[in-house]
Amino acid sequence: MASDMRAVGVTEFGGPEALHVVDVPAEPLGAGQVRIRVAAATVNPTDTGLRAGLYARGEDRADPPKVPGMDAAGTVAEIGPDVDGDLAVGDLVMAVVVPTGSHGAYREDLVVPAASVVRVPAGTDALAASTLPMNGLTARLALDRLALRPGQVLAVSGAAGALGGYVVQLAKAEGLTVVADAAEADEELVRSFGADVVVRRGEGVAGRIREAFPDGVDGAVDTALLHEQLTPAVRDGGGFATVRGWAGDGDRLTFSPVFVREYAQNRDALDRLRQQAEDGVLTLRVAQTFPAEQAAEAHRRLEAGGTRGRLVLTF
Ligand SMILES: NC(=O)c1ccc[n+]([C@@H]2O[C@H](COP(=O)([O-])OP(=O)(O)OC[C@H]3O[C@@H](n4cnc5c(N)ncnc54)[C@H](OP(=O)(O)O)[C@@H]3O)[C@@H](O)[C@H]2O)c1
Repeated sequence: MASDMRAVGVTEFGGPEALHVVDVPAEPLGAGQVRIRVAAATVNPTDTGLRAGLYARGEDRADPPKVPGMDAAGTVAEIGPDVDGDLAVGDLVMAVVVPTGSHGAYREDLVVPAASVVRVPAGTDALAASTLPMNGLTARLALDRLALRPGQVLAVSGAAGALGGYVVQLAKAEGLTVVADAAEADEELVRSFGADVVVRRGEGVAGRIREAFPDGVDGAVDTALLHEQLTPAVRDGGGFATVRGWAGDGDRLTFSPVFVREYAQNRDALDRLRQQAEDGVLTLRVAQTFPAEQAAEAHRRLEAGGTRGRLVLTF
């Protein structure tokens, strides 16, 4: 059996200081799976929830350590039986990870389904590539749920954020008109993603979107969790994608709570994101990197707000 591997996790749920380096056994490699020597793992809002125990239940709490992390990039170390396709040992790859127990992206030895892994976009390193899988797939899923046609209008809240930025860029690539919210300081950034109209974020945002689109927009992706503050921007019968499980406030709109787990083994979608990053459709944004030992500091930074681009842990 391989020796213990370095990971970052929690043995007791809590604040950022609860995160520390833990030793975990190397993960067994099964059929259809790939072992990755992780070089980079991003820090996402959901990781802070896992760390704090928001998703823990009963027996779950009793079985430490918990290792967060939903995307990773690194080198293919080993390929299990029955993996078809184009991956080879030594390839630089990126993967989406569905964390459970000590299986999460914050670990140097990671085994994931081959369907969750593709090569990094040509010309990018592990740091930049790690920012793409989870939020890119979530953006893809939200847009697939809304299924708007070219020329229709999409509103995006939290457009300066990691998820919001990808939603704007993917939407533009498929011919949608995009209205996005931004603080004054982020307006240029959000325009650089291709937003056609940028309105000031904050209270009254739906009214400002309606001023620009008096009939209402056809759909919205609400990455800033504005919920009923944003719904009035959408026309009757329009679509509304939510990202933290909110199921909506009535039947005027079609609500789609999206969960990226659903696309965690959609390799075609992940590979298309790779291609779109190579083509310049998607911009990969690393805000700051931290050695894995400083994960607590990275969580503090994320929770303080105001990060633009993704914080990345290095292993
Ligand atoms: N369901 C899923 O599968 C799934 C997958 C991925 C992400 N998510 C969720 O999606 C959300 C966004 O994730 P992310 O990684 O993109 O976070 P992020 O990078 O922090 O982006 C969120 C953006 O929203 C902005 N914001 C905060 N309050 C706002 C307001 N009242 N009006 C307008 N903008 C506001 C933030 O600005 P400040 O920094 O200035 O606060 C930030 O720019 C998180 O809740 C995350 O958990 C869900």
